[in-house]
Amino acid sequence: MRSISALVLAAISIAVASIPPKNDLKHQHFITRDVAIIGGGSAGTYAAIRLRQMNQSVVVIEKEDNLGGHVDTYTDPATGAAVDFGVLVYEDLPLVRSYFGHFNITLVKVAVAGNATQVRADLRTGTLVGPPPGGMLLALLRYTAQLTRYPWLNTGFNLPDPVPEDLLLPFGEFIRKHQLDGAVDIIAQFNQGVGDILNQTTIYMLKYFGLDVVQGLATGFVQAASHNNSELYGAAERELGPDALLNSQVVNTSSYGDEPWTYLEVASGGGVRIVRARRVIVAIPPKSDLLQALNPDERERRLFDQFQNTCYYATLAKIPGFPPNTMVVNRANETPYQLPPQPSIYLLSPKPGHLTSILYGSETPMTEAQVKQDITQRVLTLRNAGMPVDPPQFVAYSNHTPFLLTVSPDAIRNGFYDELNDLQGHRRRYYMSATMNTHDSAQIWTFIEHMLTEHFE
Ligand SMILES: *[C@@H]1O[C@H](CO)[C@@H](O)[C@H](O)[C@H]1NC(C)=O
Ligand SMILES: *[C@@H]1O[C@H](CO)[C@@H](O)[C@H](O)[C@H]1NC(C)=O
Ligand SMILES: *[C@@H]1O[C@H](CO)[C@@H](O)[C@H](O)[C@H]1NC(C)=O
Ligand SMILES: *[C@@H]1O[C@H](CO)[C@@H](O)[C@H](O)[C@H]1NC(C)=O
Ligand SMILES: *[C@@H]1O[C@H](CO)[C@@H](O)[C@H](O)[C@H]1NC(C)=O
Ligand SMILES: *[C@@H]1O[C@H](CO)[C@@H](O)[C@H](O)[C@H]1NC(C)=O
Repeated sequence: MRSISALVLAAISIAVASIPPKNDLKHQHFITRDVAIIGGGSAGTYAAIRLRQMNQSVVVIEKEDNLGGHVDTYTDPATGAAVDFGVLVYEDLPLVRSYFGHFNITLVKVAVAGNATQVRADLRTGTLVGPPPGGMLLALLRYTAQLTRYPWLNTGFNLPDPVPEDLLLPFGEFIRKHQLDGAVDIIAQFNQGVGDILNQTTIYMLKYFGLDVVQGLATGFVQAASHNNSELYGAAERELGPDALLNSQVVNTSSYGDEPWTYLEVASGGGVRIVRARRVIVAIPPKSDLLQALNPDERERRLFDQFQNTCYYATLAKIPGFPPNTMVVNRANETPYQLPPQPSIYLLSPKPGHLTSILYGSETPMTEAQVKQDITQRVLTLRNAGMPVDPPQFVAYSNHTPFLLTVSPDAIRNGFYDELNDLQGHRRRYYMSATMNTHDSAQIWTFIEHMLTEHFE
């Protein structure tokens, strides 16, 4: 089935090289769908599967050769085992269970802590760092009480006017104001990839470490029993078949005022196809540079241009001499809450097959070589902590940049998110990436459920 369709599509791609002018639209061959979805990560894949259940035809346009976005799974050639080093776990919500259930993928409960020995070290020097200040549980309770004051934070950015000033404080000030100091260490372990967490605007941190995550800390998360997070996306690829255009990118868009269609020129592995869709879902970060091919209008561009982003990198390495079953948390002795200055490693975590996952964050973009070089230098400081390590041998690398998209507190105060929400449906385009909610698959899916119910039923 799949190969025949692929052949047909290949034939079409030869026939049509670019979006035809309006007069030539008749007698052209298009991939005609109810919905074209740009991006096959967590958001785009979920939207595609749910829309199919709602009897709408879809096509997913994904630039990589597989669906899954920030889900990174390495196959260890030594053992054949799957090793996840990107997205790891999901909150245990009915929606998560029902999505995995659709593909008959069994979930197992996982505790967060695991059983690895935790070492806290300053990876600038290899000096050991003491335990975090106590009082975590009480601080988490106070934190939860804060979250429950703002139930509308749970899904999307439907903010009241005025936006509570507390939510616009730098997170460090919010912490001091509400005596949440004891919770900083655990929140910083979760809220990775956000730049300087103490200077990050509070609203983004509360959305990232939300009620479902607090609940997960207490009662556990879920993951596929196979310990292969790509299993979900493999199953989605099989279901979508030729409706998943992999290695594909939109290169131009057009629409003609009196027609219900958006035409997308899609470059796929050397060929070009024209997708004609009634609606378009943008499931990639809405930054102007990434959306050039969608020809953003004035109003869209003005909003997208305001986004700043942080940078986040996931790597997997063999570190000779690294002690087994050990987790290294990067901390510092002389900084507030012992948090390491950026750019920095977050964690070194043990993985099956003597592999170590190394997560790394930066406020400004870095090249792969720079990330690996800095990681190497910092890992080698562990020799001063008594670990006889050799330089890491990287086996996998994944760039999750642009990661967190934020706008300034002033912009939020002045109604940025109302304007962004008003874009939903503008020019028959809908925005459903993590940016519209938070960087957490279960929360992204929850947001999309709301969007599909509101706009696509
Ligand atoms: C995009 O398509 C339109 C309509 O066919 C065309 O006029 C325009 O030149 C194209 N732009 C690019 C950059 O190819
Ligand atoms: C989708 O179509 C099938 C077959 O026509 C039908 O049984 C089902 O009820 C429809 N589902 C929805 C959500 O419309
Ligand atoms: C993990 O799942 C993906 C998608 O089904 C599959 O392609 C891959 O081979 C699996 N990896 C392992 C090691 O089983
Ligand atoms: C899941 O299992 C049900 C019942 O055995 C079956 O009908 C369905 O086709 C399966 N779905 C997938 C995606 O394997
Ligand atoms: C720690 O957990 C891993 C997998 O979760 C298991 O294989 C290992 O035996 C455990 N080690 C100890 C010391 O309990
Ligand atoms: C802290 O955040 C504010 C607002 O987001 C930003 O303008 C400022 O440059 C940041 N300061 C530092 C030191 O990163």
